[in-house]
Order: sequence, then C-alpha cells, then structure tokens
Amino acid sequence: MRRIRVPGDKSVTQRALIFASLASGESRLRGLLPGGDPQATAGALRALGVDIPAFGEDGAEVRIQGVGLRGLRQPADALDFENSGTGARLMLGVLAGQPMKVTVTGDASLQSRPMRRVTEPLSKMGAVFREMGEPDRLPLEVTGGTLEPLDYDSPVASAQVKSALLLAGLVSGAFVLVSEPHRSRDHTERMLSMSGVSVISHEADGVWRVELRDPPEQIDPLDLDVPGDFSSAAFFLALAILGGVEGGLEIEHVGMNPTRRGLLDVLDRMGANVGADPFAEEDGGEPVSSLRGRPSKLVATTVEAGEVPAMIDEFPILAILAARAEGVTRITGAAELRVKESDRIRVLVENLRAVGVEAEELSDGLEIEGGDHPLTGRVSSHHDHRIAMAFGVLGALAGNRIEIDGADVADVSFPGFWDLLEDLTAAGS
Ligand code: S3P
Repeated sequence: MRRIRVPGDKSVTQRALIFASLASGESRLRGLLPGGDPQATAGALRALGVDIPAFGEDGAEVRIQGVGLRGLRQPADALDFENSGTGARLMLGVLAGQPMKVTVTGDASLQSRPMRRVTEPLSKMGAVFREMGEPDRLPLEVTGGTLEPLDYDSPVASAQVKSALLLAGLVSGAFVLVSEPHRSRDHTERMLSMSGVSVISHEADGVWRVELRDPPEQIDPLDLDVPGDFSSAAFFLALAILGGVEGGLEIEHVGMNPTRRGLLDVLDRMGANVGADPFAEEDGGEPVSSLRGRPSKLVATTVEAGEVPAMIDEFPILAILAARAEGVTRITGAAELRVKESDRIRVLVENLRAVGVEAEELSDGLEIEGGDHPLTGRVSSHHDHRIAMAFGVLGALAGNRIEIDGADVADVSFPGFWDLLEDLTAAGS
C-alpha cells in the first residue's frame, strides 16, 4: 500500500498566522500550508506591520513575533486577499477592532462572494464599512475602532462568520455570543483555548452557541504542528476508493477534527473501504490520524442539511464518487455551495454533464446518476481549486479522459497536487 502525506490544513494555517500575529511573544509554527490562500493572508499581515518570514513546502518551523491584539499598523495600500474567503472574512473581524481605515479586496472569484454576512454583524458592533464596488461584495473600506458587545443569531452555519465575530470581540475586548443553526468547524475555538482565551461552546434547543465572555488584554503565543488537511486528503482517499491507486493508499498525519470529517460517515454509507487509526491528539490541538482507502464498489446515498457543515468543502469530490456509484445520489440543504470559490452546484452539474454524467441542479443541492462507462470531455475549474482537483481525480481513473481548463488553481490549497496525482496513478498503470 502506497503511503503519502498531504500539505497542512488551510483553515488551521490561516488561523495560526492570524493568532501568532496578534499574540504577545514569539510563536513557533510547523507544517504551515504554503498555498496561495495562506500566502495572501501572510502578505496582508506583513502589510499590517507583522514580520512573517517566508514559508515553503518543507514545512520547516516559522517563528513569528506577535505585535499584540491592538498592535497592527496602518498599511500603505489596499489589502489583497486574492482567492481567500477565510483570509478576507477573518481579517475583516480583526480590522473592525483596529483604529484605522483599511481597504480590503480580492481576485475576481473572491469579489463575487457575499461579505454582508460578516459586515452586518460587525456593523452592529460599531465598525463602519463602505462598499466600494457592488453591494455585498469586495472591495470594502473598513473603519475600525472600539466595539460594542454582540449577541448574534447567524442565519448560516459558517465558521468564517463565527470566527470573524470572535476575532472582533478578541481584539476589542468585547463580549461576543454567536449562535448558528448547525455546528460549523471549530478551529478558531480550539486556537483561542491554546492561546489562553476561555471560550464556551454548547448546544441548546438545536442551536450551537459559542461565547467569548471575558476577552483578555493579551494572548499567548502558539507552539504548534499543523496537521494535514482532511479536505486535501479527501481527493486522494477518493482516488484510492475508485481504484486509481494499485493496492490502495494510506494518508498519514491527517487532521480528524469531528467538525471536518463528515465525509467519512457518507463514505461508510456508500460502502467505501476506508480505515483510520485511533486518533492521537497533537500539539495543534487537533486530533490526527492515518487514513486508508482501498478500491470499493460504491452505492448512491442521500446527504441532507445536518450533515453539510462538517463536509462543506467535500461536495466536489463527493460528486465525483457519486458519479461512479450505483444509483442516484441526492444532495439537499447545501445552498451554501453556491457562494464558495465558484457556484459549486451549477459548476458541478455543468462539468459532470460535459463528461457524460447525468446530473440535475436543485436550488439547494444536486442529483447525480452514477455509472461505470468511460467519461471524456472538457471541463472548466471556474477558478475553483476544489473543482479542478475533483475532476483531476475523475480524469485520472482508467478509461476516462478529461481536460481541465484552469487546473493551476489547485495551488490555492494544495501545492504539488498534480505531481502527486501523476506519481500515484503512473505507478498503478
Ligand atoms: C473555512 C470555512 C468554510 C470553508 C472554507 C474554510 C474556514 O467556509 O468552506 O473553505 O477556514 O473557516 P464557511 O465557514 O463560510 O462555510
């Protein structure tokens, strides 16, 4: 069985860069994801006066001297988060609590994504936003300062919204309570705890509440190893399940946070042969394990709203698995997919049809009819890294021939993806 590792977790890397920058003291971070998204966030933090050394694919330790919760400096230019929704939204929360005026922007994909989901609650706290382009979109000018406490019911289960509000409370010393309809990923809460900040999470009446009660004046530096990204591992796990790697595949040191690993339950229902070692807790405050995938005969399944947040980034690869499963897979309650790096519902259906798979668009999901006939055609990534990688996996399977326009975008979250894919599939052929 071949063994691989995948790059560091994107969500944890983004947060580690932000928390280390805001800490009082020197943080030591190992295994940071060097992809386009964290590089954009690091660039913005450098522009705000934090000395962040270059980091690359070796995962070597990076030391960051934090400037404190209110020590960021006025940047000379607009902050460009490129393709990174997490970077832009979390930093809007940080900037809301800093006494300065900053313009935040991004690439064409990020400029098409909604921002009022964070700017509305941040405005309730007292920050001022000026939309410089289309309503609800970047670029935005934020004027931050002292903020008021907030008790907010988020209409969407979004870790980006929750994290932006918690960070705003943290930097401005304001009480924040965020409620969400389903539990979104909890990396921010875990990192707050590691930084010495008390945060309370609990479920009441079917609603998830996260509370930052007494934000401290300063936070501790971090000493952490970033686990491999479950969402990156999912592409190669799928490749192994679909028979693309002779003898199966083991992926080592994968982050197994329960708010991220929802795909495993779905794979189980589909009949996938997947195994994991018992989870070990790592320095990064996240459970970590090895995942194994072996060739499997899959059956279709149904995914509904409650399962969506813990696998929100896995729908592109789930659609590929569904395309090779027996029966019709139905996904509902997943309207959030329309506001990711692309409209993933529309793009998945369009691309699946382009290679010969029957798929139907629903307002909040999609239906995919699986089969085993050879698939050929040309698809577009629509500047969405996970769309590119998902169709990369499908195209790498024996008998399929798929051309992907804009495949380079995979670098956003997974530098080296195409080389690894070629290496694994060449060995099997
Ligand atoms: C992320 C949260 C998710 C996810 C994104 C990363 C994060 O977005 O899709 O890739 O790091 O907080 P939402 O929280 O908006 O669903």
